[in-house]
Amino acid sequence: MALLEVRKLVKAFDGKAVLDGVDLDLEEGQVKVIMGPSGCGKSTLLRCINRLTEPTSGQVIFRGEDVTRPDTDVRALRQRIGFVFQNFALYRHLSALDNIKLGLRKLRAMSEQEATSRAEHELRRMMMQDHGAKYPAQLSGGQKQRVAIARALAMDPAVLFFDEPTSALDPHMSREVVALINQLYLDNVTMLCVTHDVFLARHISDRVLFLDHGCVRAEGDADHLLEDHEDPHIRAFFGRETQGQ
Ligand SMILES: Nc1ncnc2c1ncn2[C@@H]1O[C@H](COP(=O)(O)OP(=O)(O)O)[C@@H](O)[C@H]1O
Ligand SMILES: [Mg+2]
Repeated sequence: MALLEVRKLVKAFDGKAVLDGVDLDLEEGQVKVIMGPSGCGKSTLLRCINRLTEPTSGQVIFRGEDVTRPDTDVRALRQRIGFVFQNFALYRHLSALDNIKLGLRKLRAMSEQEATSRAEHELRRMMMQDHGAKYPAQLSGGQKQRVAIARALAMDPAVLFFDEPTSALDPHMSREVVALINQLYLDNVTMLCVTHDVFLARHISDRVLFLDHGCVRAEGDADHLLEDHEDPHIRAFFGRETQGQ
């Protein structure tokens, strides 16, 4: 059974459909990347799936359950979906370790000791074990993103959503973060990742979806979609338009 099935998802703002019938499946252990022009609805799609934004119509089925129903426990749903944002969204007044512990203490009701040991484990996984006591202002962008990923993983989500995780990073930091997300891919962590970063897309995914005009216009393995797709619009988007023809 698919972990996540999105069926004919529509989201309109002021009567204008941003998502216009999106279908998407994600299996356990699978990684899919969503690419597409700015403003095509990538963030809206992620936000509709965990109900940060209310879909206009269509279904999101999470482990067999339609989570667009009004009686859905939205809080429980969001705890099953880890979210990593472009701008890290860390609490400035908390150390890296305490940023990770917060959800474990408040939402998972873990003891202080249990939460510390869990948070330290996830920091090690992100090669950040020496930085737990630092505040976000004392960390580089790449380090902040690694803390944000550690925080999401600590909650043991069924799936991790990324919304342009490398967009705010310089190329060097971006590669560090890609290497760590690649490790999660090798560890079979289920992920759905919105990105413009072709390097990231290639290193973490089985499948790339191209979203345009509110629909999934193409889906395929990364090489095919990024290199030699038959749709000239997609080739042009990835800068692969054949010259002189
Ligand atoms: N809360 C909102 N109210 C009105 N329009 C919105 C809102 N959120 C997003 N939009 C519009 O929906 C479109 C898609 O936005 P978004 O999902 O952020 O695109 P992407 O992430 O692909 O760049 C944009 O035109 C944006 O202006
Ligand atoms: Mg976006």
